[in-house]
Amino acid sequence: MRNARKLEGEITVPGDKSISHRSLILGGIASGESRIRGLSTGADVQSTAGCMRALGVDIEGSRVRGIGMQGLRAPSESLDCGNSGTTMRLLAGLLAPQRFASELIGDASLSKRPMGRVVEPLHEMGASVTWPPLRVGGGGELRGIEYFPPVPSAQVKSALLLAGLYAEGKTSVVESVKTRNHTELMLEAMGAPVRVDGLLVEVERTASLDPLDVDVPGDFSAAAFWLIAAALVRESRVSLLGVGVNPTRTALADVLTAAGFRFTRSKPRFAAREPVADLQVRPADGLRPLRVEGHMAAEMIDELPVLAVAATQIAGTSVIAGAGELRVKESDRLAAIEAGLNAMGADVAAQADGWVIRGPRRLEGARVDSAGDHRVAMALAVAALVADGKTEIEGAECVEISYPGFFDHLEYLA
Ligand code: S3P
Repeated sequence: MRNARKLEGEITVPGDKSISHRSLILGGIASGESRIRGLSTGADVQSTAGCMRALGVDIEGSRVRGIGMQGLRAPSESLDCGNSGTTMRLLAGLLAPQRFASELIGDASLSKRPMGRVVEPLHEMGASVTWPPLRVGGGGELRGIEYFPPVPSAQVKSALLLAGLYAEGKTSVVESVKTRNHTELMLEAMGAPVRVDGLLVEVERTASLDPLDVDVPGDFSAAAFWLIAAALVRESRVSLLGVGVNPTRTALADVLTAAGFRFTRSKPRFAAREPVADLQVRPADGLRPLRVEGHMAAEMIDELPVLAVAATQIAGTSVIAGAGELRVKESDRLAAIEAGLNAMGADVAAQADGWVIRGPRRLEGARVDSAGDHRVAMALAVAALVADGKTEIEGAECVEISYPGFFDHLEYLA
């Protein structure tokens, strides 16, 4: 691909991946049929749909025929979570309290990712769970626990809340940073006994969940690529329609605004308790270096690869720290972004938990490696839009994991 002189147009990014996973899982154990419009079409969400089908849930288009809290049936083979950490961790929580045992498997990347973070608290709840390979369920009744996750993770929180729906007593998760709260919001909408108090979320056992009626908002983490691309490519005018702007997801916008990026929000509305808006991006000028540290990294963990691209175009030294989790995502994102951007002429130094990035650097097209990681591939594509000459991204087809139409949108806007 080549650089762009301007990006212009209106697009609708794919349905939110996190909300899509949760709608399929919770819709599957609801009492009755849920309607879920605008599900993510990405491969990760297909993995969750495939697993829920293997557990006996009928999913067709926007309809999910919930089979009730006790309706899941033992799968006839291992459940394939593909590349999706969210599928594996959330399903571990759902399946731990079931009367039958399940085995969860994944691709080479997922098989290397840390699962102890869900295995340990589920074990503490009394679940029968072993790892590796990940086998859960088929033991006795679970009991609620109070859990303080050592690493902020919405996946871990959600897994424990799902298990807690079946456990005796109360299950509470007390976070150190508020991670995305889609599970809590959805459980409230389904009439579950859930209580949120600041950083604490608590659930109790429930006999049934009401079905869902959801319009899945656009994925802010997908929109992030355009928020940055349109700001970096001069004379751009891009509108992103119907993007989810739940405050637990939009910390990136605050960091960008503080650095001088210009966005506007219009038509604010709600879709199934989630705030939604249209976003307009304008080119940015006189940008200041970026600083992400402490809890901030956890609040924008999926957006950090593309934020690193922005830093290469800003005068001064940007520091992104507190992001050691990036080492254990679909790839080692700290290393993959350092290698890709430096191959294009950037000055990126990966640290144990982040990057130090000196800018601005004029980027040169190069042959770079996505490391099979969708967010790395899309971040490098944004870098290619501001690079001189031609860039080839190896393994770029992995954008299918979260954003199947990414390169079509790029072509349309450029
Ligand atoms: C997600 C939580 C985050 C995020 C992932 C989706 C979720 O992972 O990186 O893309 O839907 O709960 P962690 O829980 O590992 O932070």
